Amino acid sequence: MTNEQTAERAAGADAGAPGSAPAAPAAGAAQAAAPGIVEQHERIARHLVGRERELELTLAAVAAGRDIVLEGPPGTSKTTMLTAITAEWGIPLLFVEGNADLTPAKLVGHHNPARVLAEDYNADNFVAGPLVEAMQQGGFLYIEEFNRAPEDTLNTLLTAMADRSIAIPRVGRIRAVPTFRVIASMNPYDNIGTTRLSTSVHDRLNRLAVGYQDEAAEAAIVELRTGAAGPLGAKLVADGVAVTRATRRHPDVRQGSSVRGAIDLVLVASELAGLRGIRSSDEEAYPPLVLDAMIVALSGRIHLDEAAETSPEQVLREIWEDRFVLEPHQAAPG
Ligand SMILES: Nc1ncnc2c1ncn2[C@@H]1O[C@H](COP(=O)(O)OP(=O)(O)OP(=O)(O)O)[C@@H](O)[C@H]1O
Ligand SMILES: [Mg+2]
Repeated sequence: MTNEQTAERAAGADAGAPGSAPAAPAAGAAQAAAPGIVEQHERIARHLVGRERELELTLAAVAAGRDIVLEGPPGTSKTTMLTAITAEWGIPLLFVEGNADLTPAKLVGHHNPARVLAEDYNADNFVAGPLVEAMQQGGFLYIEEFNRAPEDTLNTLLTAMADRSIAIPRVGRIRAVPTFRVIASMNPYDNIGTTRLSTSVHDRLNRLAVGYQDEAAEAAIVELRTGAAGPLGAKLVADGVAVTRATRRHPDVRQGSSVRGAIDLVLVASELAGLRGIRSSDEEAYPPLVLDAMIVALSGRIHLDEAAETSPEQVLREIWEDRFVLEPHQAAPG
């Protein structure tokens, strides 16, 4: 986003009451300048490292009353962003994992079988599933791995999205509270066990592709999440982020590690440093410490190409050698 756009939008938006109710879906374009959206955005952004553009676009979509699919690899702030938005709006965020077992009944809800036997079907013995809960509470229904859900489940969802209401046999029609949204996520590297989404699904959703953060943002995230401090901590963060990012570029790797790997690497390495009495990255024992922490934190998080004739440990050793043996100047402090 350019500064010009920011200024334009800030000038055009009405400064409403903080935390004012988010826009209702049906009102459409009229709420382009929803009251307080600038202030909301500022407060939400405080919970995130970077991600300015992603947050701005996602917030614009949900404030417009729209549903959206966030497409990106793991660890790219999708959940962090949605948690911050729903906290700001004071509404629940309900998680559902899209997989072959996610039947329409699991999504919508079911009648308690024991009670049905005793009392027959009635609205009281209906146990709401996450879709109905989100509709009733005006929450975001967040379906991770959306493209792994069976087609009939997706169709149920499309109806709920289009009508903002759903008819449940023997219960009646449930109408969504205006802040109800469907947010889907998909991993672009994920090609096993996924449904090819039909054009009718795509045509009903907005979409935002979310990529990995840049190196500085990842370092800031790792620092924030690990509390790593001091010269050794800073060096561990820099090395941890660099080698984690290198797993995404290695030719034998289909999908490298997310920032979660870097976070764990730094946490594990800090403990190892304590165990081994390592106080400084200048010590000879420092590079082997990083390799050991890499094996623990990253070997299960990298997915090799099917044709690759190597192992995760071998790939990690190559990445480590690149940084600490072949080009140690890269790894040098400063
Ligand atoms: N922008 C950010 N600011 C602060 N912390 C972040 C940010 N992005 C990611 N993190 C941290 O990194 C981890 C992973 O982030 P998050 O859960 O948001 O990823 P995700 O995109 O939802 O991943 P997945 O697709 O695997 O669910 C979390 O521990 C989170 O705290
Ligand atoms: Mg997530």
